[in-house]
Amino acid sequence: MAEKIKRIGVLTSGGDAPGMNAAIRAAVLTAIHFGVECVGIRRGYTGLISGDMLPLTAEHVAGISKHGGTMLYTARSEEFMTPEGQNRAADNCRFMGVEGLIIIGGDGSFRGAQTLADRGIPVIGIPGTIDNDIGCTSYTIGFDTACNTAVEAVDRLNDTMQSHERCSVVEVMGRCAGHLALNVGIATGATVTLIPEMVIDFETDVADRIRSARLSGKTNFTVIVAEGADMPAETVAAKIQEATGVDTRVTTLGHLQRGGPPLVRDRVTASRMGYKAVELLLTGTYNRIVCMRGDQIVDYDINEALAMTKGLDVDACLMQDALMSGQD
Ligand code: F6P
Repeated sequence: MAEKIKRIGVLTSGGDAPGMNAAIRAAVLTAIHFGVECVGIRRGYTGLISGDMLPLTAEHVAGISKHGGTMLYTARSEEFMTPEGQNRAADNCRFMGVEGLIIIGGDGSFRGAQTLADRGIPVIGIPGTIDNDIGCTSYTIGFDTACNTAVEAVDRLNDTMQSHERCSVVEVMGRCAGHLALNVGIATGATVTLIPEMVIDFETDVADRIRSARLSGKTNFTVIVAEGADMPAETVAAKIQEATGVDTRVTTLGHLQRGGPPLVRDRVTASRMGYKAVELLLTGTYNRIVCMRGDQIVDYDINEALAMTKGLDVDACLMQDALMSGQD
């Protein structure tokens, strides 16, 4: 049987996501519950390379679940992309007595974790990104809160678009994936949603839809454009104005979508995943990614997990297509 780990490290890496704090809290409190010490590493892999570590007690994590962002700070480390940086990070783990490391972040962060696992550091990944674009898990911490933040913003835009009989083109985040855009489009009753997974034909996918919505009596329109779509929001807006004559405005929601208090789904999922991560380390189950499948928290080997891919929910796309002819 593996010897019980005595000290666990936690770090957050890549873009922050609402709910990361709840995952940190759950990891710390679970470790304490089982008599294990927990330390935080500040600024992700950057902090691991420089040895920027702090002990984490129940006091440190009290009340953090309700806050967006990450109390441990986060970074995208250039140095960690190099073998020298990875060696230094692994050496520092050993030097700091970190016998198991929990990495909360996206798939780029997990690839970093893989390099530490290759150097003999036991790692566990927890998926935290507003993009929901990690292949092995049906849900990533922060997605629901980010969707709700974007939906609230679009609802507000709809009020003023209605008054002026305008078209609102709204760019949402999501990197190369359309999960965020698709859900925001469905929830706000958008006239058009453009995602990276589609090849855009402006006439049929945008102009014709706006024209037909106008013919059926609609006087204002919402077009959601994912940041990774193959036509930028500014271009979409200019083309709409030109092709339909509808007065059009562009709004980029940007980093607004990453902030704010995490909603219940993110706090609870993050807590479950933080607990599971520590449980895995304490049972000697190393180099895993904690995932969600249906309602269940499961885990996969890190190499297998990183080889998994996920597409958009096809049923949701078909449903969205049917609903876009509606009158919202
Ligand atoms: O991965 C999360 C995310 O917010 C993406 O949606 C976006 O493309 C990217 O991070 C923005 O990164 P940064 O905060 O470095 O500008």
